[in-house]
Amino acid sequence: MKELQFNLAHAVVPQDELHILERLTDHERAVMQAVVEAKGYGSDHASLNLVDDKEFLQASRSLAHKFGVVDALFIVGIGGSNLGALAIHEAINGKMHNGIRGPKVFFADTVDSQSMLVNIQMLEAYLAAKRSVVINVISKSGSTTETVANFEILLAVLKKHDPRFAERIVVTTDEGSPFWKLAKQHDFHLLPIPAKVGGRYSVFSCVGLFPLQVLGVDVQSLLAGAADMRDRCLEPHNPALQTACLHYFHSKHKRNIADMFFYATDLESIGKWYRQLLGESIGKEWDLQHTKQVHAGITPTVSIGSTDLHSVGQLYLGGPQDKFTTFITVKKTTLVEVPDMSEYESLVPHIQGKSLHEIMHAIQAGVQHAFKENARPFYVIELPEVSAYALGQLLQFYMMQVMYLGALFGVNPFDQPHVELYKKETKRILSE
Ligand code: PA5
Repeated sequence: MKELQFNLAHAVVPQDELHILERLTDHERAVMQAVVEAKGYGSDHASLNLVDDKEFLQASRSLAHKFGVVDALFIVGIGGSNLGALAIHEAINGKMHNGIRGPKVFFADTVDSQSMLVNIQMLEAYLAAKRSVVINVISKSGSTTETVANFEILLAVLKKHDPRFAERIVVTTDEGSPFWKLAKQHDFHLLPIPAKVGGRYSVFSCVGLFPLQVLGVDVQSLLAGAADMRDRCLEPHNPALQTACLHYFHSKHKRNIADMFFYATDLESIGKWYRQLLGESIGKEWDLQHTKQVHAGITPTVSIGSTDLHSVGQLYLGGPQDKFTTFITVKKTTLVEVPDMSEYESLVPHIQGKSLHEIMHAIQAGVQHAFKENARPFYVIELPEVSAYALGQLLQFYMMQVMYLGALFGVNPFDQPHVELYKKETKRILSE
């Protein structure tokens, strides 16, 4: 099978420092190994066992098959509840998916009136045309204001048009939660999230598997890629722990911005998924025992090559030395060629008759050369191709990298106390 390749040669971290940091992650690796050996969902690292879970795969698949042909899927959820499915969908099916192939998909995350109005209008249009619609509402807690508000809005539209509306609704939530109970009372379809699997680590549970299955993604290959990467990242000197050490080193040396630089536009939302994962997991005030203030955190940013070379390229190469970059490249892409029109050679020579991939490759090499010349540290992840198997590897790698980073920073990568602060305060204001 095609493995992701990691080139860490230009990360500019002294070998002896790297060895010391790697040793600091020994305990974390042992904990992860023990969780995988024990199987099940009893611990904070439970998400590591999702890739072996045949029940969730089966439940998501059989429900998707039961729906048969779906014309439009509405995914209602926010943060860890929708970013993973969005990222994999866009990477595999393309950002322009709705203009090209079906089923169409609409995401309702924030309570932005204008974008919800479009969702309402689309839902009404599909229902009026008697097309097949599914609403998948995903909320671990079942009490996130944005998700519940958007769900109620879409539910009201569905109810108005379809007396058998309950059959079109799938609720993905913690088993036994208040939302679970309510969904049961109303005869909605139900998919569980294990209690110990947090939102941002839940993409390989029914949270991601059901919508991705409806959208035609090969979820079995996705899980196979994730399983292979999980096993790889439990070995000594694995890429998740090595890159965690690199990020940790640079964050302690004033390079506290981690830029994910994708040379593939459709991977942008993978960057946004990682932004949440890294931001929420490591951005912490207290150490693990809650005894010492630490103010840990790395600021994740997302850039797209070559587009952003024409916006932030100057800053990245000439500006402050505060970033550590990951270039994400794809080895095999679709073939699109510049026609061989010699009369245009005076504008930009040597591109006529070349593929866009060749041109992109030259740009990548040029950028890396400039980064080296300007002492800007980076490492490279190469995907053999954009496939479910490769993406399964990539997302699993990142989740384990962040777990290793939690150990290095001495913070709990599984909670998000400050997100809860805003959630509580919003509810208080709304109750006034
Ligand atoms: O990763 C997380 O835990 C959060 O981002 C949650 O996914 C997000 O806040 C949504 O919460 P819920 O799934 O409970 O609606």
